Amino acid sequence: SKSYNITLLPGDGIGPEVISVAKNALQLVASIEGFEVAFEEMPMGGAALDAVGVPLPDETLNSAKKSDATLLGAIGGYKWDKNEKHLKPETGLLQLREGLQVFANLRPATVLPQLVDASTLKKEVAEGVDLMVVRELTGGIYFGKPRGFSTDENGQEIGFNTEVYAAYEIERIARIAFETARKRRGKLCSVDKANVLEASMLWRKIVTALASEYPDVELSHMYVDNAAMQLVRNPKQFDTIVTNNIFGDILSDEASMITGSIGMLPSASLGAAGPGLFEPIHGSAPDIAGQDKANPLATMLSAAMLLKYGLGEEKAAQRIEAAVLDTLNRGFRTGDIHSAGHKLVGCKEMGEEVLKSIDSKTPAA
Ligand code: NAD
Ligand code: IPM
Ligand code: MN
Repeated sequence: SKSYNITLLPGDGIGPEVISVAKNALQLVASIEGFEVAFEEMPMGGAALDAVGVPLPDETLNSAKKSDATLLGAIGGYKWDKNEKHLKPETGLLQLREGLQVFANLRPATVLPQLVDASTLKKEVAEGVDLMVVRELTGGIYFGKPRGFSTDENGQEIGFNTEVYAAYEIERIARIAFETARKRRGKLCSVDKANVLEASMLWRKIVTALASEYPDVELSHMYVDNAAMQLVRNPKQFDTIVTNNIFGDILSDEASMITGSIGMLPSASLGAAGPGLFEPIHGSAPDIAGQDKANPLATMLSAAMLLKYGLGEEKAAQRIEAAVLDTLNRGFRTGDIHSAGHKLVGCKEMGEEVLKSIDSKTPAA
């Protein structure tokens, strides 16, 4: 039978808690669908700094490169916040994304009917929201040079970064976004700051030029400040959003809260070729780490994206998605999505309930 290698990077904080739950789900759906998964668990982030002194050991990157897909929990924490830049957990994550060349980060935000009351927005605003943020992930201000610290002519310390995009980087992410929109509701909104930033002016020009190849997709443009406002005013106007690295980081956290919690949002990071990286959009949540309080569903749904986009195991992916819905239907809620009338559970128990749902549910074909 088919067999896949999956690199697991539990990382820091709640990372190991949510990964252990998602690992069990992957194992179970694989056995039901009749394929094998072999896991290689590798150190990453703060855990790797503590173990071997770097945030992304070569062995970890090599494992991710040669596996069929990588599932990451989260990295970071107070302990390493004051580290020099090259010794930060976050630097390891950027090195991993760059090393795998996963330039396209898909971040779906869907308001599930079961969780409308967990959203901080009014029911009529939140219900039915189903959008996809396509975030450029290996360029822009996160990677642009020059960057660093220096001293200006007045002897003031300065820190500086550069927002830079080459035409090919914009074109390849725009292409993914047009293709994504085409498979969804055919609407693409490109978010930029072209009224101020040169990198955004080029962004808008390239995206606009590409539109002629996708006559079936309705393209619009929006400035990022307006987009932030529109996301809470009327999120249902959006189908697919394409934006740069930093705007996508911010807007996807904002979009997550429409759905009820950042603990619900998965992501897939894909390149032109080679294995993908799959991770929840949330961080290591040091405030709740080690307390069995984390919502593991974002990581479960990231595992589903891994099965679908990373391995092409669509049916196995659907089993996890269906089980997550079934578990919510049966009333189980972690603290971040809990409301009156539901059963408050921890990370482990939520994971066990999802496994029960996987066992008992056969998703519609
Ligand atoms: P965070 O996403 O870790 O937490 C923000 C808030 O959301 C916290 O109150 C947290 O408890 C809550 N939260 C997050 N995930 C949750 C879940 N699954 N279930 C329930 N509640 C959840 O963001 P932060 O506090 O700004 O960052 C903490 C650390 O994580 C930092 O070191 C940061 O750099 C890092 N970080 C890592 C990633 C990643 O690994 N991809 C992403 C974002 C932040
Ligand atoms: C994310 C995180 C990362 C980012 C950090 C931890 C480097 O916020 O995955 O959204 O900014 O991309
Ligand atoms: Mn983020």
